[in-house]
Amino acid sequence: MLFSGKKVLLGITGGIAAYKSAVLTRLLVKEGAQVKVILTDSAKAFITPLTFATLSKNPVVTDLYNTTDGTWSNHVELGRWADIFLVAPATANTIGKMAAGICDNLLLAAYLSARCQVYIAPAMDLDMFAHPSVRTNLRLLKSFGNYIIGPNSGELASGLKGEGRMAEPEEIVAFLASQFLKKDHLKGKTALVTAGPTYEAIDPVRFIGNHSSGKMGFALAEELAGRGTHVVLVTGPTSQVAEHPNIRRIDVVSAQEMHIACLSHFHKCDIAILSAAVADYRPLTAAKEKIKKKSAGLSASEPTLSLDLVETKDILKELSQKKTSRQLLVGFALETANELNFAKEKLKKKNLDFIVLNSLKDKGAGFKGDTNKISILDKNNKISKFELKDKKEVAADIVDYLVQKLSKKNIKKGINKNGN
Ligand code: CTP
Repeated sequence: MLFSGKKVLLGITGGIAAYKSAVLTRLLVKEGAQVKVILTDSAKAFITPLTFATLSKNPVVTDLYNTTDGTWSNHVELGRWADIFLVAPATANTIGKMAAGICDNLLLAAYLSARCQVYIAPAMDLDMFAHPSVRTNLRLLKSFGNYIIGPNSGELASGLKGEGRMAEPEEIVAFLASQFLKKDHLKGKTALVTAGPTYEAIDPVRFIGNHSSGKMGFALAEELAGRGTHVVLVTGPTSQVAEHPNIRRIDVVSAQEMHIACLSHFHKCDIAILSAAVADYRPLTAAKEKIKKKSAGLSASEPTLSLDLVETKDILKELSQKKTSRQLLVGFALETANELNFAKEKLKKKNLDFIVLNSLKDKGAGFKGDTNKISILDKNNKISKFELKDKKEVAADIVDYLVQKLSKKNIKKGINKNGN
């Protein structure tokens, strides 16, 4: 169970998405969390305290004080009790009040006194979400260290289509798991990472290669290792150095050698991220001796030399055919044109869990440099776009995304196993 013994305080505000918070409560409880719910007055217009009291097995609190019996709810205690404070759905009104430090209900009082990580899942109509005041408030909340989950794009309660739908309960739970359990979620797992270029020999002194520096693959290996994963790093020729003791480095030169190394380690891995720029073709035969220049200065014309090339094995495709349901397989696509369509094609053809796309059209992205700009495309054609960042930060984004996918896989498995 993902949240065994963890205490989750769930704040629900007045939006139609409040009905989804019932499923959210159920999922959190099933994953071992102790859940306490705060409903705002307007949330009660959408869904009843009884629903949440039943699902959470805890009394639901709604008011700062009760004037009829003279009792009051201790918001400080609630704030201190929680390991995670999640507000879902969070309306524009509550988001605005949280950002401004307003404290006119129990949820807001608990927010101001919470000492734990705070997660906010906005839900509102598209124009409200697009309004600069909402955007500014969300940025402010982020700057306080709070996490924003979603929203998604899709059909809204108003009948309009656009950004503003609350993230699905499964996504929220996966996000919580990926962030809150960041440190130990990957602990003890094994990952295969490929990095760098491959060199395909033409003769003993020449090869066909590419400009890959290996920086992205090494950053991924370091990030995974830092989170407790045992990494098998299969790398082509590069000047990069792997530092973390959790990394076992295997140096290879050609696509064929990379293929053999990957195949012998994949079966014991939970995760495989293939970021290497593997040559698609190699010379049919590598000359034993250095190929000599034929013209040797005899003619002013431009003599040519032809090489017969043969396709190398597609390592990623082969791993995808061997992949079991417990394994997660990730590929990279470096494109120069028609990027998204090519990435979609590769994702499908190679049966990947997700693909990381970078385009050489984006300044600062791709080989050699220290930065990269990526988009991640998943099996449901959902695209997540990221800013231009240092490759180490890009690696952290990719691993965060991967943890979310792993958590989702576990949640789905749990649901299927229990049949509900
Ligand atoms: N890949 C691989 N083995 C190969 C070629 C590619 O494992 N022989 C992997 C790369 O590591 C990357 C993904 O496949 O994760 C996509 O590589 P890319 O070269 O972009 O795609 P290809 O399928 O080779 O197609 P093309 O070169 O025509 O774009």
